Amino acid sequence: MEFVEQLKSAVDIVAVIGQYVRLKRVGAGPRYMGRCPFHTEKTPSFSVHSAYQFYKCFGCNAGGDVIKFVMEVERLSFYEALKLLADRHGISMPQRAEYADPDTKLRAALYRMHELALSLYRSALDSPAGAAARAYLQKRGLERARIEEFAIGCSDPSGQALTRVLQREGFTAEQLEASGLIMARHEGSGFYDRFRGRLMFPIHNESGKVIAFAGRALGDEEPKYLNSPETPVYRKSWVLYNLHRARHQIRKQDRAVLVEGYMDVIGVWSSGVEEVVASCGTALTPQQVRLLRRHSDKVVVNFDPDSAGVSAAERSIQLLLEESLRVRVLELEGGLDPDDYVKQRGPAEYRLRLDRAPGYFHWLADRARARYDMGSAEGRLAGLQFLLPAIQQVSDKLERATIANDVATYLGVEPGLVLERFRRSSAQRQEAVAGPPAPELRPVEKFLLRSLLASDEVRQQVLPMVKATAAFQQLATRRILEALSAMSEAGTTFSFAELEARLEDPDRRLLVGVAFDDKEAEATNPLVQALACVQTLAKEDREAPRSELKARVNAAVRAGNVEEALKWTEELARLDRR
Ligand code: CTP
Ligand code: MN
Repeated sequence: MEFVEQLKSAVDIVAVIGQYVRLKRVGAGPRYMGRCPFHTEKTPSFSVHSAYQFYKCFGCNAGGDVIKFVMEVERLSFYEALKLLADRHGISMPQRAEYADPDTKLRAALYRMHELALSLYRSALDSPAGAAARAYLQKRGLERARIEEFAIGCSDPSGQALTRVLQREGFTAEQLEASGLIMARHEGSGFYDRFRGRLMFPIHNESGKVIAFAGRALGDEEPKYLNSPETPVYRKSWVLYNLHRARHQIRKQDRAVLVEGYMDVIGVWSSGVEEVVASCGTALTPQQVRLLRRHSDKVVVNFDPDSAGVSAAERSIQLLLEESLRVRVLELEGGLDPDDYVKQRGPAEYRLRLDRAPGYFHWLADRARARYDMGSAEGRLAGLQFLLPAIQQVSDKLERATIANDVATYLGVEPGLVLERFRRSSAQRQEAVAGPPAPELRPVEKFLLRSLLASDEVRQQVLPMVKATAAFQQLATRRILEALSAMSEAGTTFSFAELEARLEDPDRRLLVGVAFDDKEAEATNPLVQALACVQTLAKEDREAPRSELKARVNAAVRAGNVEEALKWTEELARLDRR
């Protein structure tokens, strides 16, 4: 068997996608639903079909097999997706050079360079050269276990250590520069390390590969944090720090804690709250929010209480609400950031504060109160105006009404006024429809196609019979059946993805529509069902001449052509006598 087929038969698409998207089974059937990881949506319209090993989003039309999914969600080449799946399932992969295009080869080199950099930085921390970094870590109270867990290291101040290692490994100048780890000298030739004399935090992608670093200054030098630039393996806006460690716990606890900094992540993690992530030195992006939402739609935002933190929180909360997350906001007293809070007040106290964090609306209302004069009617109205956009984001009707009431009480505004504003804004909302659109298809065609998809036996035995009927030429699903039959004749192993790939768009939609429509139960015996459909088609064949003649009679009558009408009536009588 070809390796790709072997791999696909060894992995289950539901299990693989389930790692990235929260899926819910539809009834007891073969279909699962979730929120599409590829576009923003409030109502789930993303389906995974376990029998067909195929996913489809009826919102953005993304679809394919398990390999395509991994390629899209991890943004990998075909080869890399195969490799990731093979590694995860302990399947060894044949070394085949033809899978690897130049981009893939470059990315493979970059991953390797990051691995080498990681081990260099880690061993440097334990070497004599790491004394300053060790002292710094001790001063900040980081235990050995945390240092190991987060794979913290340090970079050599000379700026030559990593360059030397990577050159010795034979990486090309182009690869060195593409890595973001090594810089070319402006004057003259030669290279030097980007990170020098810093504490090094590795940044991983969701599948746990090191793709970048953040380097913290050991003293007051600027910048405090130096980050890897964007590279072919590191797209900042798509990465959340610590997500690869946190994602299991995010699901389990059904919430994520979003903090600002690397040290905050480590501090919060140390308090026993492992569902914690940070955006790496950038403002939160919609892509990052979607990463989170795949695992839970609840998030507690716990940013620094300084003014930069507060405005970052405001923007982030707005974004989280736009992406339909349920947001709570934790503000820690004493001007402490999460890391300092855990250290000063202890893990138990932090966890308590986290669990009691109020809904985002209270936080926003406090902002409104701080900003406007709640003593005057205009001030209260302005405060309401300030809150309205955020509250309009709440998609649940009941929740929106509850919040409307709360807002009124909290701001001391006339509740009627708030409700009236809400009614106006909610009238503009449109609820999206989820699920596959039911295809307009005659039942005989629907059942025939479904039973043909069900087994090789049906395809082998029934397809030739179907093609032999005259009715076949008229079928809406004809091109789908032709593709199926071409596949059987060519001896191609059947897969839903393969069939789908052979079709053009209207047929493709039709196929997925029929296949993902679970309003009809699966046939207990698809062969019997298929044969019944063939019977129906054969009957249509037999009746075709009769219906044709009847149509002619009717047309002649309508046209007032008695002679014609008589002629076709006689034909019809002759046919019936036979
Ligand atoms: N940040 C950055 N570049 C900087 C400063 C900050 O990328 N020059 C990002 C980092 O992700 C940092 C976060 O913003 O972790 C928060 O910044 P700050 O509060 O200044 O740092 P802390 O995380 O508190 O770090 P430390 O505790 O080491 O001071
Ligand atoms: Mn901070």
